[in-house]
Amino acid sequence: MVTFDERSLSLDGKRTLILSGAVHYPRSTPAMWPRILREARRAGLNCIETYVFWEGHEPQPGEVTFAGRYDLGRFLDLCQAEGLYAILRIGPYVCAETNFGGLPWWLIARRGMVTRTLNRPFMKAVEAWVGRLLREVGDRQYTRGGPVILAQMENEYGNVAHRYGADGQAYLAWCADLARNAGLDVPLIMCEGAPAGVIETLNGFSVWGRVEEMRGKRPGQPLLWTEDWLGWYDTWGEPHHLRKAEDIAYEALRFCAVGGSGINYYMWHGGTNFERDAMFLQTTSYDCDAALDEYGLPTDKAEHLRLMHDCLRGHAEFLLEGAVQAPEVLVPGRLPQHADGVVLHAFRRGARELAIVVNGNDWPKRVTARGLTLDLPNHGAAVLAGDRRRHALVYRSWVGPEVRVQRRMLPAGKTLRWQMAADPLPGTEPCRPLAFRPVKLPHNMLLATRDETDYGWYRTEFVAARGGTARLAVTVADLLSVWVNGVYAGTVPERLEEERQKAAPPPCSLDVTLERGRNTLLLLADAIGMIKGDWMIDAPQSRERKGLLSKVTLDGRPVAGPWEFAGGLWGEGHRRFDPVTDSGPAWGAPTLAGGPLRWYRAGFRVTAAELAQPAPWAVEVGGLCKGFIWVNGRGIGRYWQLPARDARRARYGNHPHLLNTGHDQPVQRYYHIPADWLREGGNHLVVLEERGALPRGARLVRRH
Ligand code: GAL
Repeated sequence: MVTFDERSLSLDGKRTLILSGAVHYPRSTPAMWPRILREARRAGLNCIETYVFWEGHEPQPGEVTFAGRYDLGRFLDLCQAEGLYAILRIGPYVCAETNFGGLPWWLIARRGMVTRTLNRPFMKAVEAWVGRLLREVGDRQYTRGGPVILAQMENEYGNVAHRYGADGQAYLAWCADLARNAGLDVPLIMCEGAPAGVIETLNGFSVWGRVEEMRGKRPGQPLLWTEDWLGWYDTWGEPHHLRKAEDIAYEALRFCAVGGSGINYYMWHGGTNFERDAMFLQTTSYDCDAALDEYGLPTDKAEHLRLMHDCLRGHAEFLLEGAVQAPEVLVPGRLPQHADGVVLHAFRRGARELAIVVNGNDWPKRVTARGLTLDLPNHGAAVLAGDRRRHALVYRSWVGPEVRVQRRMLPAGKTLRWQMAADPLPGTEPCRPLAFRPVKLPHNMLLATRDETDYGWYRTEFVAARGGTARLAVTVADLLSVWVNGVYAGTVPERLEEERQKAAPPPCSLDVTLERGRNTLLLLADAIGMIKGDWMIDAPQSRERKGLLSKVTLDGRPVAGPWEFAGGLWGEGHRRFDPVTDSGPAWGAPTLAGGPLRWYRAGFRVTAAELAQPAPWAVEVGGLCKGFIWVNGRGIGRYWQLPARDARRARYGNHPHLLNTGHDQPVQRYYHIPADWLREGGNHLVVLEERGALPRGARLVRRH
């Protein structure tokens, strides 16, 4: 049984402090899971939280998989085997910087579809999926002997509620009913917006200041922090984000001090957005400055938090059952909560006491409490335990890494001998040409590509009265490369905004050179992930579109067409990414000559001894510019070496909980190759390069 009251969750009647870490199963491989879970437990966690990724389980309607990285049942079984509880955040909308926020793309192709509200087509699809999911993993609930102690439906509905009004609220209540009817019998949670009867939980970098309000709003439920952000995700062209361990420890202690009884760190292990799993603009790495790095290895953040967890778990009965004393203000700060003062929060059990002393000041403070002199760092905390006569210091936060886990990327010692094959432009294919079909602009290419490729070609011919330079303009999602009469004119725009907050992105334009008379225009649209939420397009996310979203103009005059469209690159159709099934013509030596679209491949050998070493593998992309990487035919993910904009002008420029690093550098340099995707003997690395760069400096490295 899982029960709860305002103090905590109880498992079979025993109050339990939940120290949980988010690990998303598709963001690592099944071979990595045991190690990741072991490291989580070693750091003092007793629970793992994961979202469920509908878009990965059902990529096309009715094609459901629970295999490989999507073997959720196995993942939950491994959690249990490691002695960890699990929190299942089902959504099905999950946000999570995953393609389309975890919803499958094909929803947008259904007539009358509006996502995340009281909409029949949406609810019908969700109902079918949730039923299917629970037939698969429903027996992993704690109530039936499994590890799952809590289940979440929807996600941060508060962010979109204004758009859907009463319908939205009715939909949210329907989600809870659906969960119950489908057989969820553990307590239901929803973060940042929940209907009656569901535990509402908090997300953020710091939430202790919102605890009183939550208590008032939701009496009788425990205070749970579903997303304690350990860092932040990265997007192409923005700086890399970091969050300090001491800040996390301080915020967690302060949350427990005011009655919090469950924390889930988001992410404990961030991992990798393999294949085309990443949302719009999200990097392939989902490291998120998590406690375990992208490769699953512990960082000093994990070690730092482990010490705090030891202290919290060792004194959990005070936090969960102790008599709560009125806070003692040792140094007054701003009211009402003395946020920037020094406050002591005590919990008593008989003669014994646990006291958490928090310093919210931006500078260190020396205070005396329970007969002890404490030097508290700025935004620091100390934990004291003792009886009426004597207290001892059981934890004190510190600044900087007292524990140091240093890791480096070292060359793997493999020489890559590259071969190259141009990706032929439509009209010049050596065999089986791309199948073009007539289309009208604007055109949502997702309906044609079924979101199985990033690329879509648009083609037309027209007669120009005079030759020379003309300005081509069009609205595109997301990037556009242009060829006129077979000559590459360029790619626009240079960079993209994560949240455009408008249905269509701003139009982009570039100069092209026309011939007098007949001209062929070839436009390649490159879609780099579907959006994760309504706010990114200021519309229900079911209105997401990719491709040419307006007419194409030349010097302001529309190019009438007729237009034709073909999805995917020729080389994708001919499986150039997989040396085993590749059906294209012979490869040659790399050369700067030729168009920007090209494939590179290099073989390398791996020995059994190298595979047995625990050091994870990665590709450093060196001088390459933008494209996609495969190893042995499996998608490692997109790469883009766009330098990050100025850290101060970046989106999270002066965020109090984040540090920005890497101005002028590409935000991701290394691309993780799961060791279990390699094999003893010959292996193949294949790169699709969109901008004609040479693979100079590209190499295999290992994390030590
Ligand atoms: C939250 C959301 C998560 C994730 C996170 C940022 O608002 O619930 O799914 O997107 O932000 O990493």
